[in-house]
Parts: sequence; structure tokens; C-alpha cells
Amino acid sequence: MFVVNSKQELGAHLAEWRHLDEHIALVATMGNLHSGHDALIKFAREHAERVVVSIFVNPTQFGASEDFDEYPRTLARDMLRLKKSAVDMVFTPDVETIYPFGLEDATTVSVPRLTENFCGASRPGHFDGVTTVVARLFALVRPDCAIFGQKDYQQQLVIRHMAMDMNLPVTVITAETVRDDDGLALSSRNQYLNESQRAVAPVLFESLSSVASELQNGRRDYDKLEEAALSKLTAAGFAVEYFSIRRAQNLAVPDRDCDELVVLAAAHLGAARLIDNVVVTI
Ligand code: PAF
Repeated sequence: MFVVNSKQELGAHLAEWRHLDEHIALVATMGNLHSGHDALIKFAREHAERVVVSIFVNPTQFGASEDFDEYPRTLARDMLRLKKSAVDMVFTPDVETIYPFGLEDATTVSVPRLTENFCGASRPGHFDGVTTVVARLFALVRPDCAIFGQKDYQQQLVIRHMAMDMNLPVTVITAETVRDDDGLALSSRNQYLNESQRAVAPVLFESLSSVASELQNGRRDYDKLEEAALSKLTAAGFAVEYFSIRRAQNLAVPDRDCDELVVLAAAHLGAARLIDNVVVTI
């Protein structure tokens, strides 16, 4: 496993692989890796001969009230984890490599509309930071495909939109959410849950799943389903940010005939902000 920090070293390995006609998959991360990332890497391996993992805590996707400095940086532990997985190269760029003109003069990539609601509403500017850094990683690595987790449903839609809209030569692939045995989606945020909150946390996925089965069974009173789930989560101790039934394709408000839905939610439990979703194909 190569560990590279500069654009030049990265380019040298990539050129060698391309010369051999090997396909390259990118798994972009901010480090603090867990089994969810292992699954993304495994999935990447199924789509390409070479897997590149980037670790970069991207300053531009943190809002003013979010603590970029406090974000857990666990590089030594991440490296040990990656050594055990099927990764060919780890790219750990500095801020200067990703933003050579500095943050103030950085060109930004921004997807309108799709980023307005849900996580975009509670985290203004967040998705601009995500698309800006992902576009830069795509330009540096030029992967044939890139893998993103379904847990961040809006994020993968936004990245997919950017890649298609800009004709970027990369296939964006979404990997299924990895869950603990009780259904809780794996996330680095779960570490902020204390024991009693951890016991309650699976109720989020339970609520999403139960709404998903109601939809499968033919219910179309979306508002009522959302309201009931919101009350249930609030009663369980969550501070719900949103709980919505939307069109899976673009998060628009669905009509009764829509046959591809996503039920998505964000809710705070103590210090942890949990997000999750279930896709329903009718
Ligand atoms: O999902 C993440 O970890 C980040 O948003 C990403 C895609 C690596 C961009 O910094």
C-alpha cells in the first residue's frame, strides 16, 4: 500500500496503473475510519483493479458553528485499518495541495436547488464545500469510478448531479449503508452517543423502515406518515431536524404515483446528529 501526500507522487502511481489499463476507484474520506468505510473499500474493489482512498479533512465543508479543529484526526489508526484492507494507495494531501490558491481564492463548485433543503438547510455552505473538494479530488485522481455511501443520501445525489451535469468522466456509485446488528447506521458520529442514547438510537432506522413498509403496503398519505414518525421519534428523545418522504431521484415532493421514494431523516440525540434513510421501490 502506497501512502502519498503530493500531487506528483500520486500522479506517478496513477500513470503506471493507467499504462497497464487498470481501472481506478476512489473512496474519498475524511479519515476516522470505521467498518462502514471498510465496506466502501470492499465495494470499490469489485469495480476496479486499483483502489485509492483519500483522507482529507476538508475545511470548506464545515460551517462557522461547526468545529473543524475538533474533527477527530486518527491517521495512525486509519493507516493500520487500511493496511488490513485491499487498498492500493492512500492519498493524504495537505490543504495546499487541494487548494493551491488558498481558501479565499478557491474556485467553488456549487449545485443549486438539490442542496437547499434537508442537510443543506441546517448546514449552509456544507454541500458547496463537498462538491468543491470532490471535484478537486476527481481532477487529481481522475478515477474511473468513485464510491459514496447511501447513508449520506443527499450527498451522493448532489455528487452524482455534479458529475453528470459537468460531464465528469467518472461513474458515481452508491454503496448500501452498513448497520450494526440493531439497525443503527455506522457513522463516526455514533461515538458521541452515551450508553442510554446508544440504546435509543436504532429507533431512527426502525421509524424509517416502518414508514417504508407502510408505503410498500399502499399508503400515500405522506404528511400523516411523516407526522406520526416525527411524534414517535420526539417521544423517544430525538430532536428531529427533518423526517420526509421524497422522490428518490431528486428529493422533490412526490405525487401519489411516484414509485421510487426515499424516506430520509436527520435527528439529534444528545451531542450526536444522526442521519439515515430507506429507499422504497414500489
Ligand atoms: O462523506 C465524507 O466523508 C465527505 O463529505 C467527503 C465526501 C469525503 C468530502 O470531504
